[in-house]
Amino acid sequence: MIRRMTLNDLDQVLRIEETSFSSPWTYENFRYELEENEFSRCYVYEEEGRILGYSMMWILFENADINNIAVLPEERRKGIALKLMEHMEEEAVKEGAEFLHLEVRVSNEAAISLYKKLGFEFLRLRKGYYSDPAEDGYDMMKGVILNEEDTGDREQL
Ligand SMILES: CC(C)(COP(=O)(O)OP(=O)(O)OC[C@H]1O[C@@H](n2cnc3c(N)ncnc32)[C@H](O)[C@@H]1OP(=O)(O)O)[C@@H](O)C(=O)NCCC(=O)NCCS
Repeated sequence: MIRRMTLNDLDQVLRIEETSFSSPWTYENFRYELEENEFSRCYVYEEEGRILGYSMMWILFENADINNIAVLPEERRKGIALKLMEHMEEEAVKEGAEFLHLEVRVSNEAAISLYKKLGFEFLRLRKGYYSDPAEDGYDMMKGVILNEEDTGDREQL
């Protein structure tokens, strides 16, 4: 089940975050997103009380900026990230977003392959975008538009 993240989830979320990233977000970073950032939408993928993955985006008018997604290492390659991404896209479109945007390390083949599968395209290379360890990043983007009758059907740009 995918649902909105709460402060009670943060113990489990932080465990995934810390095994997934070289510069993990802290409790305070997540708390800010949950409690103070009105643009932030944070989700967890939960099964029987266990959080297996989470994702987060900022909705800024027509742009949805996906800024975090991770899955427990032992639960990867089961389609969880795909479901989280599809859920965020649906939610973003409901709120009027027309573009989904994200950055990814050039070496992150798993994530790049996930995003390409979902229809994201490379927008540009950002030299030296990441630190710790230093690395270039790709900007990736996907356009989604509502059709004229606003039936809820979507077309990729
Ligand atoms: C990237 C990540 C979120 C993918 O999560 P996941 O739940 O394993 O992904 P899914 O099972 O939904 O995979 C969907 C598709 O993405 C691609 N993919 C996912 N992991 C992949 C891998 N290790 N190698 C190649 N392709 C991969 C495949 O196309 C896959 O479809 P398939 O399994 O039918 O071939 C996960 O590897 C992770 O948490 N990584 C660490 C955190 C991270 O890098 N986040 C992204 C930051 S930009």
